[in-house]
Amino acid sequence: MQEHNRGQWGSNLGFLMAAVGSAVGLGNIWGFPYKMGKTGGFAFLIVYLALVLLVGIVVMLGELALGRSTGKSPIEAYGALKAKYKIVGVMAIISPFVILCFYCVLGGMVMRYMLGFLVSIFGADGFSGQGDGFFGYLLYDYKGMILFFIIFLVVNMGIIMGGVQSGIERFTKIAMPALAVCLVIIIVFVAMQPGAKGGYEFMFKPDFSVFSDPDIGFFGVLKTAAGQMFFSLSLGMGAMITYGSYLSKKESLQRNSLIIPIADTVIALMAGMMVMPACAAYGIDFGKGPGLLFASMQGVFLDGMGGTIGNVMGFLFYFLVFIAAITSSISLLEACSATIIDKQIAKGKAPRRKTAAGIFTLCIFILGLPIALDALGSGGALVKAPYELMGLEAGGAGYAMWNDCWLDFYDLIAEGILMPLGALLMSLIFGWVVGPKYIYDECEQSGHPFKFKPYFDVCFKVIVPIIMVVVLYAQITDFF
Ligand code: TRP
Repeated sequence: MQEHNRGQWGSNLGFLMAAVGSAVGLGNIWGFPYKMGKTGGFAFLIVYLALVLLVGIVVMLGELALGRSTGKSPIEAYGALKAKYKIVGVMAIISPFVILCFYCVLGGMVMRYMLGFLVSIFGADGFSGQGDGFFGYLLYDYKGMILFFIIFLVVNMGIIMGGVQSGIERFTKIAMPALAVCLVIIIVFVAMQPGAKGGYEFMFKPDFSVFSDPDIGFFGVLKTAAGQMFFSLSLGMGAMITYGSYLSKKESLQRNSLIIPIADTVIALMAGMMVMPACAAYGIDFGKGPGLLFASMQGVFLDGMGGTIGNVMGFLFYFLVFIAAITSSISLLEACSATIIDKQIAKGKAPRRKTAAGIFTLCIFILGLPIALDALGSGGALVKAPYELMGLEAGGAGYAMWNDCWLDFYDLIAEGILMPLGALLMSLIFGWVVGPKYIYDECEQSGHPFKFKPYFDVCFKVIVPIIMVVVLYAQITDFF
């Protein structure tokens, strides 16, 4: 009966598309290239891939299995294991909320670029005369930042108010393949530009010199890659638990928890192979930071392709990135809302999906404002930087600069701390208390025998906990 109230996926394809839709988003297209660019290219890539294999797939399986076996959203799902584990579920609700605050600001920026190219197609000047340098201009165009932030929030809210099935499934089936095709076209185009080679060398030529960089080092690469991995795969918090809770017992969890990380990683690699060579070709510093995607793509569309073709491709690209961002942000908002909905069902009340989504959206708007108003820490912002509020020195945290910029600060809370901590607790719970058998049994419900028990045993019990402790250590020492 409960399943009736909450909704269920129409088919495995629908589930998979929505889960891949959740995973593939700004993390892959915007985050991956700029984080790789900041922390050494090849070295980052290797560490990232190792983390996907050793941690990502394992945590993915654990979250999906927990969601499906309990049929509940994060807090109640952990509570079903043991009442005191609810706290892990509470952490899992805080992260999507924190992420949404900056995700929707970035989503708004994507919409601004989309609109810029759209009007340029019709001969207007879509970038306020700034062309390539538009990113620097946009950051200080506070009215524009807020306007597009609001538009993105409203679109996001509208979809969640529509309900699980009609809201999420329909949206994703076409957009993901279309995005992949669009990336391929841009990758091929960029490959033909003079100078692009430097980008491939940066990504694929073995070079670990970043490990001896005093500002970054091995720990810097590890924690950046780990945060990025959780973020990109939508892990370490509620999203995949919630998604698993809507999944039918007939479907194979093992297969799904391989397909989602693989698809996500392929898209991230493609984004890297688009952005890095473009940086090399158009003279943009790999380590530029959060503006990397936007700056390098202006080079491609305005200077490289140019004219109407450039404008059309630019519009298409940002439109698809926007869809990818929306399918991710709805999964974040769904993770928040599902908690409230389950609470209401538990109390015997009719679920009020619309109210839940509306209240969260308002809170996200308020807490997201500093991110839209601080020009990403570029200086001259309308709001005080986190370090000013806390009475600290600017940039005291080395290259990460988490305290200069609200986006980085929110990011630090979510992907830097809460997600690794959530993954640590989860692996300890499943590795040592409940036992991994709980997960294997849930997997076998679909009638497929679980094949990789020894591998997952070691990962749950030892490998994931150790890596998470090291990541958290690296993160916390950064404060001092
Ligand atoms: N994975 C998404 C991206 O790469 C972001 C995202 C969506 C997410 N849902 C999530 C991150 C849940 C963490 C948890 O853009």
